[in-house]
Amino acid sequence: MSSPATSEPTKTKPTVLVVDDEAGPRDALKVILRPFFNIRSADNAKAALEILNEQPIDLITLDQKLPDRQGMDLLQDIKHSHTDVEVIIITGYGSLKSAMEGIRHGAAGYLLKPFNVTELITLINQTLEKKQRLDFIRNFLRTTPDLWGSEQESVHAWQALKAGYFAIAKNTQSDAVLQHENQDLLPLLSDLLEAKDRQLLNHSSRVSFYATLMANRLNLTIAEQKSLAMGAFLHDIGKTSLASYRFSDDQSLPSGEAISCKEHPDRGAHMILPLGFPAEVGQIVSYHHERWDGQGYPHGLQGDGIPLLARIVSIAQTFDHLTAETPGRSPLCVDDAIRRISLQSHTHFDPMLTDLFTRVVNECKASLPAMAIAAATTSVPES
Ligand SMILES: [Fe+2]
Repeated sequence: MSSPATSEPTKTKPTVLVVDDEAGPRDALKVILRPFFNIRSADNAKAALEILNEQPIDLITLDQKLPDRQGMDLLQDIKHSHTDVEVIIITGYGSLKSAMEGIRHGAAGYLLKPFNVTELITLINQTLEKKQRLDFIRNFLRTTPDLWGSEQESVHAWQALKAGYFAIAKNTQSDAVLQHENQDLLPLLSDLLEAKDRQLLNHSSRVSFYATLMANRLNLTIAEQKSLAMGAFLHDIGKTSLASYRFSDDQSLPSGEAISCKEHPDRGAHMILPLGFPAEVGQIVSYHHERWDGQGYPHGLQGDGIPLLARIVSIAQTFDHLTAETPGRSPLCVDDAIRRISLQSHTHFDPMLTDLFTRVVNECKASLPAMAIAAATTSVPES
């Protein structure tokens, strides 16, 4: 991708597609953005998709009301077939709720009309800076399987990934990333999950949140609580190594992909070895698909033989899979999800933890969806 905008337009300006059916706002946006970006425009969803299929587009400003489709439907189509194209929703106050939902469907942000020019340019630049980091990681994942190779290959691959990633952050003056550079890898790990799929990042963040809810009721040390939050956040990091990552249940995958999907716990644990996390973090990643009755994968561990923190994450991740909005599957309400999990106590899940999770969720049920959304948008656990 080309560099984000500076006040000096260059030949490698990013390309922005303005999608708005009203000529006035569309032309205004074009005038504002033209000094910084190459501009294309469309006044309906069909034309927007045609342009997307014709040429590389870095970012779309999307008005919610289009003559041929709802902007939210178009957003989902774009994020499905052009995952690396960023979308900023332009919305009036009346459609604010649906614009916020757009974030869950993969929009990078939204702007409330009337907005000022600085606000618009700042949001677009921040979004493009992040896109540069995500594009770098996507390319790295495609071309460097060494992250999950031998121990030595993995160490070198992480060094290369970190060097390239933080060099981009320096170039784009991304303070949010750089302030962490010498402290921890959270921004990189968060971007790594998001580069694979924004739903994967959101899932990881919510699972960390649900696991933390349970940690508060168990006699865990501070170190264990930290490992739990981090392990829950990274539990599916092995999925970044899969060629076609799917958010759905592993069982619904074609047989070949199901087999490789079942490798993601061990692959993930292997991937994070060079990062020096406590052993408990790796155990969560390795064992979050084990079952209380020993029928889980990849090791068929049973009962107390499965580390406690992994048993917690097993429940938390299942609860999120059941309640999260996923393409092609309707989410269960909290009560139904808890009922489903309770039915699997003693088979899939530790009975004591299942009871505890049921109690904790029932106690904060009213505010749970909002808290989960907040957890997904803040992205990373505290280190
Ligand atoms: Fe998993």
